[in-house]
Parts: sequence; C-alpha cells; structure tokens
Amino acid sequence: MTAEVDDLITQYGIDRKRIPNHVAIIMDGNGRWANKRLMPRNFGHKQGQKQLKKTLINCVKIGVKVLTVYAFSTENWRRPEEEVRFLLKYLKKSIIEEIDELIEEGVCLKFLGDLKEFDQKLLDMIETAEERTKSNTTIQLNVMLNYGGRREIIDAVKGYLKAGNSIETLSEDDLSAQMYTALVPDPDVLIRTGGDVRISNFMLWQCAYSELFFIDTFWPDFEIDDLLNVVQQFQSRDRRFGGLS
Ligand code: IPE
Ligand code: IPE
Ligand code: MG
Repeated sequence: MTAEVDDLITQYGIDRKRIPNHVAIIMDGNGRWANKRLMPRNFGHKQGQKQLKKTLINCVKIGVKVLTVYAFSTENWRRPEEEVRFLLKYLKKSIIEEIDELIEEGVCLKFLGDLKEFDQKLLDMIETAEERTKSNTTIQLNVMLNYGGRREIIDAVKGYLKAGNSIETLSEDDLSAQMYTALVPDPDVLIRTGGDVRISNFMLWQCAYSELFFIDTFWPDFEIDDLLNVVQQFQSRDRRFGGLS
C-alpha cells in the first residue's frame, strides 16, 4: 500500500478489517462533465475511462476484492449512433492499451452482459483478455457491457429451465447461480455518481441488500477522497438484513 493512501485511510478513521468486499459503480456524468467544459461528450467518456483505471488501482490499495462497473447498458443503444460507435471503439482501444498493466496489477478481468450483440472482433478481444487475466487474484474487475438487470433475470430463468430444471423447485440460490455474477458475492456497496438518484436497470437482483450511495460528483471527477468517504460511511451504517441490530 502506498504511504499516501495509507495515511488517508488513517485520516478517514477507516477500519481496514471492514473494507467492503464488493463495490459496484454506476459511472454516470461523463457527458455533463464534458458539457460543463464546452467539450464534446466523447471527451467526457475518455476522461471517465482514465478515472476507472485510477479507481481500480485505489480499490486494490484499500483492499476491495471485486469492483463491478456499469460501462454500457441495454438502453444505451438509444444514444446517437456516433456516440455508441465511439464508446465501443474506445473500449477496444482501452483493452489493447491497458491489458499488460492489468496483468501486472493482478486484475482478473470479466466482461458481463448480453455480449452476443457485439461484433466478432470485440468478442475475440474480450475472450483473449479474460483468458490472459483469469488466474489473477488481487482484484476482479467486472465490466458490465450491454448489461440490463431485467434482461439478466429473464436470461437466468431461461438458463435454469434450459438445464432441464423444474420451475416448481426454482429457488433464490438457483437464480443467483444463473446470474452473470454467479461466482462473486453480492455488492456490499453501490455507488452512483452524477447526481441522479436511480438504479437505471443495474444489478436489480444482486443489490437487494447493498448499501446505496448517490453522489453529485460527475464520474470523471471521482477521486480517492470520494471513495474513502463512501467506505467511511459504509462502516458507520448498521446492516440489518431485515433482522435487528
Ligand atoms: C455515463 O455517462 C457513461 C455511459 C452511460 C456510457 P453519461 O454518458 O451517461 O453522462 P451524462 O449522464 O449524460 O452526463
Ligand atoms: C447508466 O447511466 C448506465 C451507465 C452508466 C453505463 P445512464 O446515463 O444511461 O442512465 P439514465 O439514462 O440517466 O437513467
Ligand atoms: Mg448518464
């Protein structure tokens, strides 16, 4: 752990033994961040990508084990074609440029969502990136791509039935096992940046008992202080899961 982050953790009074295991982020506000600077929306997406890399490294430093980020929703196809094209092109570029460093940092990379709608080139890149990082254990980064919580639930039910199971015996555990995130525990923390207070179809099943944080900061401005602030508040919350404290 670098001295700087170490100091900040102490400064924030954070208990290192109670760091959230899984942090999920709705990285919102790229477009408005750019508009505020009289720049095109895509400039905001570029900056957002840089911020993701910084946040990933910060999560490693504080000991988060799973980081799940909303990169492209099933509804984001409604945006102008030019913006969608940019987002996908930039994603390809980022995978190529970042993969070696991700391996060095011990990141296990997963792309989760309804991926079949993407072109073969992107699918091949995703497969290679996942293959090359699959035995890394420092942190798992789930990049949610063409992801929709409702679609995921429908697909999970279909997957369960296709495996020859009966609807009569369907349990919560069965459905959890069919989710894209089946192999990781549910998020402890869900952060949405950008000031809007909604879920926008993100991890509807998995966030049933996550601690929610809605913050006004636009995603490209999300820094270590914002992250530590969330962790500090997380540690002061009483998670009852329906029981009594
Ligand atoms: C989030 O930022 C990134 C994606 C949805 C791809 P936005 O692009 O939604 O930025 P705002 O919300 O319009 O500012
Ligand atoms: C959610 O942000 C999706 C991602 C961050 C990828 P949106 O900007 O698409 O959500 P709405 O449209 O404001 O609900
Ligand atoms: Mg938005």
